[in-house]
Amino acid sequence: MKDEVTREDRVANLKGLGCSRKRVEDARFTQGKGNYVDDIKLDGMLFGDFVRSPYAHARIKSIDTAAALEVPGVLAVLTAADLEPLGLHWMPTLAGDKQMVLADGKVLFQGQEVAFVVAEDRYAAADGIEAVEVDYEELPVIVNPFEALKSDVVLREDLVAEDGSIPPGAHGPRKHHNHIFTWEAGDKGPTDEVIANAEVVAEESMYYHRTHPCPLETCGCVASMDKVNGKLTLWGTFQAPHAIRTIVSLISGIEEHNIRVISPDIGGGFGNKVGAYPGYVCSVVASIVTGKPVKWIEDRMDNLMTTAFARDYHMTGQISATKEGKITGLKCHVTADHGGFDACADPTKFPAGFMNICTGSYDIPTAYLEVDGVYTNKAPGGVSYRCSFRVTEAVYFIERMIEVLAIKLNMDAAELRRINFIRKEQFPYTAALGWEYDSGDYHTAWDKALKAVDYDGLRAEQAQRVEDFKAGKTRKLMGIGLSFFTEIVGAGPVKNCDILGLGMFDSCEIRIHPTGSAIARLGTISQGQGHATTFAQILASEIGLPADSITIEEGDTDTAPYGLGTYGSRSTPVAGAATAMAGRKIRAKAQMIAAYLLEVHDNDVEFDVDRFVVKGAPEKFKTMKEIAFAAYNQAIPGIEPGLEAVSYYDPPNMTYPFGAYICVMDIDVDTGVPEIRRFYALDDCGTRINPMIIEGQVHGGLTEALAVALGQEIAYDDMGNVKTGTLMDFFLPTAWEVPNYETDFTVTPSPHHPIGAKGVGESPHVGGVPCFSNAVQDAFRPFGNTHTNMPHDHWRIWRTANELGLHD
Ligand code: CDP
Repeated sequence: MKDEVTREDRVANLKGLGCSRKRVEDARFTQGKGNYVDDIKLDGMLFGDFVRSPYAHARIKSIDTAAALEVPGVLAVLTAADLEPLGLHWMPTLAGDKQMVLADGKVLFQGQEVAFVVAEDRYAAADGIEAVEVDYEELPVIVNPFEALKSDVVLREDLVAEDGSIPPGAHGPRKHHNHIFTWEAGDKGPTDEVIANAEVVAEESMYYHRTHPCPLETCGCVASMDKVNGKLTLWGTFQAPHAIRTIVSLISGIEEHNIRVISPDIGGGFGNKVGAYPGYVCSVVASIVTGKPVKWIEDRMDNLMTTAFARDYHMTGQISATKEGKITGLKCHVTADHGGFDACADPTKFPAGFMNICTGSYDIPTAYLEVDGVYTNKAPGGVSYRCSFRVTEAVYFIERMIEVLAIKLNMDAAELRRINFIRKEQFPYTAALGWEYDSGDYHTAWDKALKAVDYDGLRAEQAQRVEDFKAGKTRKLMGIGLSFFTEIVGAGPVKNCDILGLGMFDSCEIRIHPTGSAIARLGTISQGQGHATTFAQILASEIGLPADSITIEEGDTDTAPYGLGTYGSRSTPVAGAATAMAGRKIRAKAQMIAAYLLEVHDNDVEFDVDRFVVKGAPEKFKTMKEIAFAAYNQAIPGIEPGLEAVSYYDPPNMTYPFGAYICVMDIDVDTGVPEIRRFYALDDCGTRINPMIIEGQVHGGLTEALAVALGQEIAYDDMGNVKTGTLMDFFLPTAWEVPNYETDFTVTPSPHHPIGAKGVGESPHVGGVPCFSNAVQDAFRPFGNTHTNMPHDHWRIWRTANELGLHD
């Protein structure tokens, strides 16, 4: 039997940084004890639901609600006319545009909210919806942004001045009545010159199709107005509860201290639950009107057809290089389809998100990016579906351009990447489009990845497969998908990043209880990422109390400190840093208490795992548990009682996680079915808090990447009908399609983050999409393929094979 607790035991007991601690949330989720919005049931609660437009573009001649009001159980039907006197028929969007809450004169996309039926239950609401009569006059539909920019049809009549001129939008001048903004980064003149004089130039156009985050739980809320106390409580699927509170206050006029926003358990977000939806506004109004709590929960079709989409970027690029393959310049133009309203969820100054990270992981001296935002008759949105703002688009673009350049140079794409990577000694590295990358060691990661999969062996096998195919010995081709990505996560800093004027800092408040356990509250909100597990681990290492003794609480604006929420992998870089900083404030006070108790000077004690020890006399110490008790039971001269701290953290920079992914795929050219034989994913997210959770994040992100690359799509027909509005048509991968992922890592800490951690949740999606796509494209490269657009579903793969003459 051990008679002494070793230092290793004490470290292990904390379950701090680096420990694969089991998720503390799972005990309740696996027992069905989660508490989601739809689990909330309040006395007298009503249900609200929408009459939605069947047309993508139509004028509303009249709305007759009389029959609906006769339906048993229906209490009210709200239309824009009812909301107008309150100034609530339109609402501001996160992108500086405005959006109809309920159709005001016309509709701009299929599924748009036309009227809100409030009833005693969901069934009566559905009957009421059937009974509302709307007289529509169909208008010409535009679903193609290039046509929108040429068309005489004015989509946003509210944005044309009385004299017919086009006033500027939130991001400057507009070129056409269906144009939203032009956004530029980099130097156009020098880039044009470099490309004009280059030895080699490769060009490509690609469409990153429209898709949707499709979280397991759809969006919804419960609004409860307590008219006696004047207090509004709003439960909802909010990724940014504090921002929602501020928005609700600004648009409703209810004072912010009288609004309590609660995000309970959330069943996935992936960006879908960042913005504000008409359902929130209508539920609040309905609760105020009826004096009863009102619930609104989308069904799956509502969610897919009307809430925030992702991507829809038409990208054209030119990349120039020397004959030896050193890249000299990059140019990118994007036509961005934003749908009927510009409701993109981006920091205010970045209408195209962080698309200007499109120089990727490469040392490209000259670059220029131009993005044109365009209105069409599609649903609004434009969220960062499991990526930082538009980084998936940027990384897809550059990783395709690298492949296209490799084809032009007749060079191996892995080698082309290697000779152009930003070198380790160049960090911090300022890219041509403005970002300062904090740290990286790309060559080490790439070499490790190539070695792990025996890259040269794979290429030899692939060459043999091509021979066999040509000789008629096989009908399967082999593709090797390469991808090296750099993410940019952790928005702020406040000076660059705000949402509706709210700076993108984040926060943590810690209270240590007398018995040495603690509660920490954060401005973020987990949607499955395991914050209750990992943030306690950060604190355990900082303050020397076991993670098991620390409760993490998020999502209640009455108790949590103000923060900007969870999306774009910002929790670890920003709120994780706030947690460490608040922990350090606790430790600083604990040091003074320990010194007092040990009767030495403050500087004569030092922190050691879970205690303060007298320097040079390790047998003299006070544990953090003892110190916590002393904070409440001793009158210590010059020190206030209690042990609490709060930190509002404004990060000095973003963090730049990176990774190297390789996919080996076999493609049956006769069926178009891809089989993923191997997927290797190396991630570097700096200091790793919980390796098991990181692995789970990587598995999830890769699976969503597989979905997007190989079939997931929100498709429209020419009439603006959504063709993929159910899970029968919208591809969600199951265990059947998902391969075994091999995960690996390197550790390059962020130099500016208090514990060196970078975000990880979005990385596998960002790196995964081009990796899967490149594997498909690579299989067809020996037969003359340069680029085909995603999603690479079976039909499109078959068609590529057919167009290349492989079925002849
Ligand atoms: O903002 P979000 O939570 O979506 O993303 P994240 O900051 O990338 O974190 C996702 C999960 O991975 C959290 O539970 C983090 O604490 C954990 N993580 C980690 O264990 N180590 C890292 N270096 C980064 C994230």
